[in-house]
Amino acid sequence: MYWSHSCFALCWIVWAALRLRAEGKYAQKLFNDLFEDYSNALRPVEDTDKVLNVTLQITLSQIKDMDERNQILTAYLWIRQIWYDAYLKWDRDQYDGLDSIRIPSDLVWRPDIVLYNKADDESSEPVNTNVVLRYDGLITWDAPAITKSSCVVDVSYFPFDDQQCNLTFGSWTYNGNQVDIFNALDSGDLSDFIEDVEWEIHGMPAVKNVITYGCCSEPYPDITFTLILKRKSSFYIVNLLIPCVLISFLAPLSFYLPAASGEKVSLGVTVLLAMTVFQLMVAEIMPPSENVPLIGKYYIATMALITASTALTIMVMNIHFCGAEAKPVPQWARIVILKYMSKILLVYDVGESCTNPCHSKERGHQRKDYGKLPELYQKGPRNRNNGIAQKKETNKLLNNDLGIQGENPKEADNYCARYTALTRNIEYIAKCLKDHRSNNAKGIEWKKVAKVIDRFFMWIFFIMVFAMSILIMAKA
Ligand SMILES: *[C@@H]1O[C@H](CO)[C@@H](O)[C@H](O)[C@H]1NC(C)=O
Ligand SMILES: *[C@@H]1O[C@H](CO)[C@@H](O)[C@H](O)[C@H]1NC(C)=O
Repeated sequence: MYWSHSCFALCWIVWAALRLRAEGKYAQKLFNDLFEDYSNALRPVEDTDKVLNVTLQITLSQIKDMDERNQILTAYLWIRQIWYDAYLKWDRDQYDGLDSIRIPSDLVWRPDIVLYNKADDESSEPVNTNVVLRYDGLITWDAPAITKSSCVVDVSYFPFDDQQCNLTFGSWTYNGNQVDIFNALDSGDLSDFIEDVEWEIHGMPAVKNVITYGCCSEPYPDITFTLILKRKSSFYIVNLLIPCVLISFLAPLSFYLPAASGEKVSLGVTVLLAMTVFQLMVAEIMPPSENVPLIGKYYIATMALITASTALTIMVMNIHFCGAEAKPVPQWARIVILKYMSKILLVYDVGESCTNPCHSKERGHQRKDYGKLPELYQKGPRNRNNGIAQKKETNKLLNNDLGIQGENPKEADNYCARYTALTRNIEYIAKCLKDHRSNNAKGIEWKKVAKVIDRFFMWIFFIMVFAMSILIMAKA
């Protein structure tokens, strides 16, 4: 039992080895027979009037790079070409049932099918992979290729764009009456595609075009594979869009910044510079074409907005610092801005939002008392014409106020003169104070106007920035 098993196994191995040797021998014989008087230079057809059909199939393995700036798509493809060679046939029975052999492809005639829209300068020759030769003359040639094809990139909707890249294959020298090409499938094969980080593939339909050029009557067939790509935009959203949106929301806040801080304009300019950096980054990856990408438009619009806001800030600053020399606030502005707009925009008096309202009222009261002269003093010097009566009164006053006793008229006169000078001085001080206060009030009024206008623009610009952000996000 054991012995017979072993013997059987041994016998089988010996037989298999012999058969392999036989196959090798037959393959050698076949190869010699086939290529005895074969030329790979000529189109292998029995009748030169007959067309040779080549079937083309493209498998997209990987997108290596999409260079938007130079408009070049680099792809890794497997190109399969199938045709019948009329001189490479054999009878299987004569060669021990050998039905196919694999031989280097440069031994046989190959169709000169090339990528028409190739974009690299080096003349990449087809790789000398093996071909599979079947007993009836069918040759299958699989060759990997890294192709660089030109591709018209339309970046109008960057980073939410779709691209279509054509890969056109055709015979370089043979016309359609000599070598005709066909699609193996309706589209490129995507089953072995390695996921790309930047692009989603939405199909690769293939179309056969036959072009007849003006000079000649021969048709020139080609097969165009259209690679439909959609950009995965999350990278650009995170790196280019969201930072820009966030920064642009800072711009209207320059209106909210108190004028006294002196930072209003520098905030606007800083934001503008930040936007410029982002814009340069986008401009670097985009082709310098007429079509401004969507994100570029967004940057330009935002920058225009920020420029406008900075310019307006400067103007409002001027209003804010309308000091004592300025004209008073015009009546219409007082009504429109101070009365209505300030209420709508919830603008409070200067400083009121920062301090306790009670406290500020008290302070105002104190300020009113401050520098107020007794009525008597104010009235006093004006009715100098009353002469004696007034003098008497002053005397009386002096007696009371300064505590001077005595009825010496000379002394009293002396006092009276000094008193009048004093009163005049006090009157002058009071007048200055009053002027100052009214000027101050004017300044405060202008400041409030500036504040209301600031607040108004802040909301306007907030709404505009918000609307623009929504608009660009809606395109996503
Ligand atoms: C090539 O294809 C055409 C169209 O399908 C067909 O008519 C012709 O017979 C084919 N030629 C050969 C040699 O197979
Ligand atoms: C790509 O090929 C298709 C089909 O031949 C054609 O309609 C389209 O215009 C081509 N696109 C470009 C950009 O050449």
